[in-house]
Amino acid sequence: MAEIIVQDKLFHLRNARMSYIFRLTGDGLPAHVYWGARLESLMSPLDRLYFESREEDYRHNTMELEKLPQEYPTYGHGDLRRGALELTAADGGTAVDLVYQKHQVYDKKPPLEGLPATFDQAGDSRTLAIEYADQLLGLKVVLLYTVFDDCDIIARSARIVNGGSQAVSLERIMSASVDLYDADWELITLSGAWARERMIDRRPLAPGFQGADSARGDSSAQNSPFMALVRKDTNEFAGEALGFALMYSGNHTEMVQVCLNGMARCQIGLNDAHFRWLLKPGEAFVAPEALLAWSDAGLNGMSAQYHQLVRAHVVRGRYAHAQRPFLLNNWEATTFNFDEEKILNIARRGKEAGLEMFVLDDGWFGHRDDDHSSLGDWQVNLRKLPHGMNGLADRIHALGLKFGLWFEPEMVSPDSDLYRAHPDWCLHQPNRARTEQRWQLTLDMSRADVCEYVENAVASILESAAIDYVKWDMNRDMSPVGSAMLPPERQAETAHRYMLGLYGVLERLTRRFPDVLFESCASGGNRFDLGMMYYMPQAWCSDNTDAGTRTLIQYGTSLVFPQSTVGAHVSHAPNWQVGRMSPLRTRVNVAMWGTFGYEMDLAELDDRQFAETRADIEYVKAHRDLLLYGNGIRLLSPFGHDTAAWMVVAPDRAEAIVTAVRLSARANARRQRLRLAGLEPGRTYRVEELDADLTGQELMRFGLPLGFERGDYASLRFTLISHK
Ligand code: DGJ
Repeated sequence: MAEIIVQDKLFHLRNARMSYIFRLTGDGLPAHVYWGARLESLMSPLDRLYFESREEDYRHNTMELEKLPQEYPTYGHGDLRRGALELTAADGGTAVDLVYQKHQVYDKKPPLEGLPATFDQAGDSRTLAIEYADQLLGLKVVLLYTVFDDCDIIARSARIVNGGSQAVSLERIMSASVDLYDADWELITLSGAWARERMIDRRPLAPGFQGADSARGDSSAQNSPFMALVRKDTNEFAGEALGFALMYSGNHTEMVQVCLNGMARCQIGLNDAHFRWLLKPGEAFVAPEALLAWSDAGLNGMSAQYHQLVRAHVVRGRYAHAQRPFLLNNWEATTFNFDEEKILNIARRGKEAGLEMFVLDDGWFGHRDDDHSSLGDWQVNLRKLPHGMNGLADRIHALGLKFGLWFEPEMVSPDSDLYRAHPDWCLHQPNRARTEQRWQLTLDMSRADVCEYVENAVASILESAAIDYVKWDMNRDMSPVGSAMLPPERQAETAHRYMLGLYGVLERLTRRFPDVLFESCASGGNRFDLGMMYYMPQAWCSDNTDAGTRTLIQYGTSLVFPQSTVGAHVSHAPNWQVGRMSPLRTRVNVAMWGTFGYEMDLAELDDRQFAETRADIEYVKAHRDLLLYGNGIRLLSPFGHDTAAWMVVAPDRAEAIVTAVRLSARANARRQRLRLAGLEPGRTYRVEELDADLTGQELMRFGLPLGFERGDYASLRFTLISHK
């Protein structure tokens, strides 16, 4: 049971496994006390013994604050570490002096205005709202903390209200700040680049600053809005792990500051680079939600918390818990070169193979025959599709397939009617060049008129034809960022206002079209984050569909995201991004670790390969619930090793599927054993591919033999079904 115990000046948030505790100092400042395994006691006096401080008046004790672990530090009273809230007041002052005012506990989690946020089911969470004030500025800071029953995660956010008579300029607003008592941790970030997203990077903490960020306008492939701190001996199955994830799709920062006294300050929130927010009297600012996960069962333990959070408290709508259609996308098969006949032929072959939905990608609108034009002009190209979008949708449906369509609504091509009519509708700064990327500019979604245009453009196509699915793409970084609608003193608000505008459009469109399955995409995985997941239950994980690289990308992605959110497709070999050949079976085995589909013209397969493909699709169909919604467990990491392995286990542990990929073949190699996890020790499982019956204990203690075939990128799949 999630509960919040408030006693004297102590706040204890806990569920059956985890506790998070902070208290107020004598002068009303929030001090961090504990975050870890559940404590039965309230732990009221213990931290005071530990710190031996002159407890009652921290603020006026010379530099004493620097030694105190805090919950939401500010500048000006002796703590010279980075603040969670930094601002400049009308008189130029930068000090902020927060003092406790009051608190309230909610049984139902309140939403965050204008932002995606985790939600609860009746009674399965508790939320604490605790209010502090700076009397001089008239500023109120409300910190929100939610503890859930079913996952060991604390959701945090902050709301700043200007109740004073003068404007303040907010310069840094963290969603969460936690001071850890020691710095004997290693930092994990998900870092990378386009087509190499979410590579796991792990290094020991060093004195000073470290972390991750994005100032690219999107949450980015370079650094996900996530970091974890783990002990040196933490591995996939054992050891402590602390996760920090932000439910946001724009600029973000994750920071650890190791100070000379050996504490580690961890912060996560909006990136303060190029950011400033003018908060006038009566106005409020809400920081995005941070999700802080704890586990002492290793990285898999931490991931299990996030996976549960995403499944139960993030994804919404008709498809949140439903099966997703196996799709066939034409992008890698045709790029822009298609017409209706070609599309129907590709779709027909997909149907014969057993696929369930055809998705028409980029190139169906304006005069877009390459990526140089037409974004913004969302009118069907009748030269390519003479029967219009409804004609094509009807023909695809007549084949017995669902129909999906690609959009890139946030963009405008300089060569478009939209740009010619509204040259000021894109992000730009006065008298500066408009930097193009992929021959396109970013629409200024901080503007209400632009948001209205985008919403109506998408809605009118969705209303014009029977469209079952939308791929919502976004293919460039934002630079330079500025808005023609905002006054000079508000220009640095543009990037965040953009996200608020986008979230508003997504909220309205997903409500208006509740039966449409939305998949987000941003040059592959440039915006793979919890924010987009709130509106769209799955995201295209990477433009790199090479099975070898996908093994790494999906492994990294799984640190936070369950496989039900990960768009993963089988594609042509040699792969068009890296030129690598990999066996068809391996491409299937890797794509099975996500929302399954194909990204190729199946007509290129010979009869043997086509028969194999039909059988593969049959297999995935037969196990689709297990594959999509089973508990994902990482077994062997491909980072720095030559074999990757993972498994999915049914929630009742009656079934499991195990996959292993050998990245590089080695002569005269030992036969590897793969020890499984998450099974029931006393149960007997039939391992179909080995024609053997083994107990859960044998499978977890001794393991499965990995007898790979010769060649790089060979793979194995094992299907375990228990007889009870
Ligand atoms: C980037 C996406 O990730 C691809 O899948 C494809 O939709 C292209 N954009 C189309 O321009």
